Amino acid sequence: DKQRQDELKKQAAQKAADLVENGIILGVGTGSTVAFFIDALGKRKEEGLSLKHIVTTSNRSKKQLEGLGFKVDELSEVDHVDLTVDGADRVNSDLDGIKGGGGALTLEKNVAANSTKNIWIVDGSKVHDVLQGFPLPVEVLPISCEQNFKRFEEKGLKPVWRMDGEKRYVTHYGNYIIDLGLDKIEKPYDLADYLDHTVGVVEHGLFLNICDQVIIAQDDGTIVEQV
Ligand code: A5P
Repeated sequence: DKQRQDELKKQAAQKAADLVENGIILGVGTGSTVAFFIDALGKRKEEGLSLKHIVTTSNRSKKQLEGLGFKVDELSEVDHVDLTVDGADRVNSDLDGIKGGGGALTLEKNVAANSTKNIWIVDGSKVHDVLQGFPLPVEVLPISCEQNFKRFEEKGLKPVWRMDGEKRYVTHYGNYIIDLGLDKIEKPYDLADYLDHTVGVVEHGLFLNICDQVIIAQDDGTIVEQV
């Protein structure tokens, strides 16, 4: 049930909060698991934790952090990030994953790519040998999005427009999201390579070779760390 699920997320979040060292530049991701991480970070602040800078991947996380008295900077204002803690939508045993269920994949990937270390906090339901069961978000420029959509269809990538009610969902950067409803992503590196070389694609939710450590709160109540 949800209460149990939240308890697991909280445990993974606490574990990650314990790993945050004084004086670092910290990146804070987005989502319900990260919300617990921010709570735990607030407690550590009361106990004296002091960070050099904090950057985040969403306004939601920013507001929560500011509510706890943290000052939040923009990614462009820091040289690099020492550690980023984020959630994920799917992760496999190579620590490759899918992110962007919340639509903020472009900022998430930019923060992650500029972080020396990335830790993901997830519950066990998100861990699969082959990435599957979650649509892959692709952020596309409006100017050629119709062509992108058609090409994806021709390639059998099962594109679906991300909607916001009756209208297309618009990202923070004024772009659209096409979700690829693939059953399984057997070759994530090939797919990422194709998307990385497709004009009009701003960013996609395949986060490959980015995560260094995943903290998994399993259904049986145990916490597993994978590096
Ligand atoms: C946001 O775009 C995602 O990448 C999140 O990191 C992911 O959806 C995890 O969220 P939950 O912790 O709420 O599952």
